[in-house]
Amino acid sequence: MPTLRLGNIAPDFEAETTQGPIKFHEWIGDSWAVLFSHPGDFTPVCTTELAEVARRAPDFAKRNVKVIGISANGLEDHVKWAKDIEEWGAQFAPTTVDFPIIADPDRKISTLYDMLDEQDATNRDAKGLPFTIRTVFVIDPKKVIRLLIAYPASTGRNFDEIIRVIDSLQIGDKYRVTTPVNWRKGDDVIVHPSVTTEEAKVLFPEHTVHKPYLRTTPLKVD
Ligand code: BEZ
Repeated sequence: MPTLRLGNIAPDFEAETTQGPIKFHEWIGDSWAVLFSHPGDFTPVCTTELAEVARRAPDFAKRNVKVIGISANGLEDHVKWAKDIEEWGAQFAPTTVDFPIIADPDRKISTLYDMLDEQDATNRDAKGLPFTIRTVFVIDPKKVIRLLIAYPASTGRNFDEIIRVIDSLQIGDKYRVTTPVNWRKGDDVIVHPSVTTEEAKVLFPEHTVHKPYLRTTPLKVD
């Protein structure tokens, strides 16, 4: 199976989830999607991550992003664990796990998405089978993979960063711009190198030319 890369169509699949059966592409519909895996249910780092994702539901919704989790456990575990996640998260803010979690006890979907780390001997179930690792796939409405990251089991992800990349991708799809190091929504952006000098004057009248290849501009976005 070839490795998935940025620009590939995200493989379609059917799965059982905590919100019923889904066909992945149909479920994504016209939205963006974040598909994120974690090593296993009832594990500490994962519990903190899923609580954070649950609390950030409005941030994803306002960007037209649907979120879906997956781990190599069955539905029964997922449902029980969701209660723990909500209990943990409630210490910080009201937390409801409103997003579906895919049951993947046979690792069919995690294998399809290359989410299993063969190297990590500490990340295995009682039978010695590898659990999923912390991957994140950001998929656009055309079902194209736009971001993929993999974190080690020992390190919780930074969902501010994932939302930051989604903002960058969505702005880049709408305007002919890219975003610089450590960019945050509202900061100046970079005029895309394909924009000619003449086009830049029209499209970005407030832009500054620092070098012929590095032009920045303020950009008003919602
Ligand atoms: C965790 O979520 O805490 C975890 C899961 C698997 C291996 C190490 C840590």
